[in-house]
Amino acid sequence: MNKSKLLSLFLIGLASIIVLHAQKQKSFYPGKLWFDTDGKIINAHGGGILYHKGTYYWFGEHKGEHSNDALVGVTCYSSTNLYDWTFEQIALPVSDDKNSSITKGCIIERPKVIFNEKTGKFVMYFHLELKGQGYNAAHVGVAISDNAAGPYVLVKNGRVNAGIWPINIPDSQKKLNKKESDFKSWTPEWLRAMENGMFLRRDFKGGQMSRDMTLFVDDDSKAYHIYSSEDNATLQIAELTDDYLGYTGKYIRIFPAKYNEAPAIFKKDGVYWMITSGCTGWKPNEARMFSASSIFGTWSQHPNPCRGEDSELTFHSQSTYILHVQGKENLFVYMGDRWIPSNPIDGRYVWLPILFEDNKPVLKWMDRWSLNDFD
Ligand code: DGJ
Repeated sequence: MNKSKLLSLFLIGLASIIVLHAQKQKSFYPGKLWFDTDGKIINAHGGGILYHKGTYYWFGEHKGEHSNDALVGVTCYSSTNLYDWTFEQIALPVSDDKNSSITKGCIIERPKVIFNEKTGKFVMYFHLELKGQGYNAAHVGVAISDNAAGPYVLVKNGRVNAGIWPINIPDSQKKLNKKESDFKSWTPEWLRAMENGMFLRRDFKGGQMSRDMTLFVDDDSKAYHIYSSEDNATLQIAELTDDYLGYTGKYIRIFPAKYNEAPAIFKKDGVYWMITSGCTGWKPNEARMFSASSIFGTWSQHPNPCRGEDSELTFHSQSTYILHVQGKENLFVYMGDRWIPSNPIDGRYVWLPILFEDNKPVLKWMDRWSLNDFD
């Protein structure tokens, strides 16, 4: 073998070692700045992930430096390895038309996208607040696209399941006539009235409120919208139609008057696990965990899944999505947001692997971790 051949073999070997080493170095750094492949800060808050044909798509709220209002829209990034994210485009841009429900300056939060096998359409649901109305509208927005990364087009927005009772409310509660004005807020009587459907009845005609939300597609392709309703006091789980564009009318209320926000869900070994937060605005609080063997319940509560320092603040984060890593049957990733309302774009992402102790999900803080740790 001549000298130049030897040299090229040596260089190829060296290059492979460098590449392998670089791949091994790939890690998640929860809470640290995370840059896209163009070197810009990833701007996809309150997000969720869609996996489609070998690529992960991360959709999230675009945030600016000064306000939480939607001035740009829903962002989309793509990745094949979950570490390196390429900015695709603004998947759902806000509109310049003042009459549009998603006009610039509205509030768009927690977008989630699912793919409908039957129609071949990608469907996005998000929490929408109409411009200038604070958080009063409590709408869900629905948008569709032929492409995973978008652009998505708004199909409709509004409240949920108007004129329909949830399947788990007793007939007696449908007839009660207690109203908000009958009580002093935050008294035990007021909470009990809420538990017994006071706000459900208030919103029966116009439709149920939908704020913090997620989507879940089950093994049988049925999809569900899970959202904080009834002034954020009660979670509701509503079944979607086969095209995922509407509701079948079948829905339940869970944990009435217990104030859960930020629902994130996954299914493992036939059990549905849900992680939520309490309601403390942008400030972190203690995560809550629930499980059920059927999506329509009965749901039961477990202790806080977080362990160790800052576990009572969910490691300074709030859940947004739980990602099942492809090819790793038992690897689910908790995705949370560390909100910074004074400079929203600086909000950080906290991604942690879900560990299992006694078959129950557990979260432990890690400064750094890799998918390889879970081979
Ligand atoms: C907490 C929610 O989880 C967020 O999505 C956002 O709506 C803030 N509240 C607004 O205060």
